[in-house]
Formats: sequence, C-alpha cells, structure tokens
Amino acid sequence: MLKGKHLIDPMDFSLIELEEIFELSDRIVSNPENFLDVCKGKLLATLFYEPSTRTRFSFEAAMLRLGGQIIGFSEPNSSSASKGESISDTIRTVACYADIAVMRHPKEGAPRVAAMNSDIPVINAGDGGHQHPTQTLTDLITIRAAKGKLTGLKIGLCGDLMFGRTVHSLIKALSRYEGNEFILISPKELQVPSYIKSEVLEKNNIKYKEVERLEEVMEEIDILYMTRVQKERFFNEEDYIRLKDSYILDKTKMDMASQDLIVMHPLPRVNEIAVEVDKDPRAWYFKQAKYGMFARMALICKLLGVDE
Ligand code: CP
Repeated sequence: MLKGKHLIDPMDFSLIELEEIFELSDRIVSNPENFLDVCKGKLLATLFYEPSTRTRFSFEAAMLRLGGQIIGFSEPNSSSASKGESISDTIRTVACYADIAVMRHPKEGAPRVAAMNSDIPVINAGDGGHQHPTQTLTDLITIRAAKGKLTGLKIGLCGDLMFGRTVHSLIKALSRYEGNEFILISPKELQVPSYIKSEVLEKNNIKYKEVERLEEVMEEIDILYMTRVQKERFFNEEDYIRLKDSYILDKTKMDMASQDLIVMHPLPRVNEIAVEVDKDPRAWYFKQAKYGMFARMALICKLLGVDE
C-alpha cells in the first residue's frame, strides 16, 4: 500500500509496489481521459530550491492533468528560505495547505529531513549529487516501454558518473532486477562513487566494468544512458572546462551500435549528444521526458490513494 508514503530513495518502494506504479502508468498512458478528475480538490506543492525544467513541469502537468491544483516556488529567494527558515519549518507550514509535496534541494538529505517532519507525502525531486528517484521511475518506465522488460540488459552509463544523481539512482534500481550488467564509461576523475560500487554492485555480485572510451563498447550495449557533466557540482572551473566535452555521441558512434540500442538522457543536454542524433529512431530521450509525466501521474495517484 503506497498511500501516504514518502519517496526519498529509489529503494523506498518494493518491487511489488513499483509494479503497481508501472501498471497504473500503463493505464494512464492508454486512457488518460479516465483520470481527468481523480485528484479534484487535491493540492500539490512544488518546493524547488534548485533550477528544473522537466521535473517541476512534469509534476505540475501531472497534477493538473489529474484534475488537481498546484502551489509552490521555483526560486527559493521568493520564499521565506531567504530569511533563514529551516526545511522542517517550511514543510510543516506547507503541510497545512497542501496534500503532497515535491522538493528539489542542492543539499543531500534535505528531502529526507522534510519527510521526517511532514504529515503529507514528500517526494525527493533531486538532492545534490545524491539521488533522483522520480527520474529513476521515469527511466524504468521508459526502458520497460522500449525493451518490454527490466531484466537481462547491458546498460552503458556515460559521462559524469561521479556527480550524476540520476545515474546513482538508476544503478540502485536496476540492480534489483536479474541479469543486468553495467558498463561505466567516464573519465577517471568522474567515475561512479566507490560506495555505489561496493555497496550496490559488488555486494550483490552484479557484473560491471569501467572504461574510458565510449567507442570501445558501443557495439555491445542495449541501452546507452548519456549524462551531462554537472557544472554546478564542480569546485573548480578549470576542471569543468577540461572535462565537459569528454563524450560527444554523434552519428559516427551511433553507426557502431546495434539497431536495437536505445539512447536515453535525463536531460538537459549540453554538448554530449549531437543534435544530428535526435532524428535517429534509437534516440529515446524526448520520449523519456514524456514518460516522466506519466510516471509522476501514477506516483501522485498512488501516494494520495486515488484511482479511476
Ligand atoms: N531530468 C531532470 O531532472 O531535468 P530537470 O533538471 O530539468 O528537472
């Protein structure tokens, strides 16, 4: 039963609970007209202490398409956070007005602090370089739509694997499904944090390898998950400039890959996927952004305990 739960970490939900969300998102995709009023009278609060396009708009679009309403801020300086109000006081106040809250924050753990002080469900919309569980839900729903399964896949994750919270969450989530293998493609300085390797991959005997060249592995992967080098997480601009264009996926590299490959990206992209790749039918990143709205519609319904 997901009603009333928080979503802070991709492991917060069991595989059975995830299946419930997948099944509901399938029904929403097939018959959105059946869900037009299910959240009538409910209010979603979006508390964004960091910039966002997809996550905030897809949550807001999701709630509006379910017949609910939205309040919130996209700029913390327009809230009392600018006067020094704590996360716990903010969420206690928001819970007086809204039925469910979504929070993005640059500090790792901030949404968990909110959840611990909240009477309404809190959803982590990305905390620092840590986790992004609703992007993961989006990614799982996209992979399921493209591949018809979440098992037995060879997944290449490429780019900034150190700071990329979507990558950390996706590795955790896909590690729970049988037979998945990971190829971690990054410069040495941006490798997956060692806690993910030891606590998630090695602890569960999951096959993985680390490589620096994308060309080396294009031929063998089922999914290529590209990521942007996260400028906002670097302490030193020189390092960012040196590493920012480490990978550029272009037509030449796509020609090396299987026809069944799918290319994903949580977006926004900077230079890491050439625009020429967008017209390749294997480019799934804008479809992925659309599945993000359906994923969030299903999640909101489940946490509020509403259905057709
Ligand atoms: N994928 C993602 O989190 O995008 P935004 O930063 O635009 O929300």
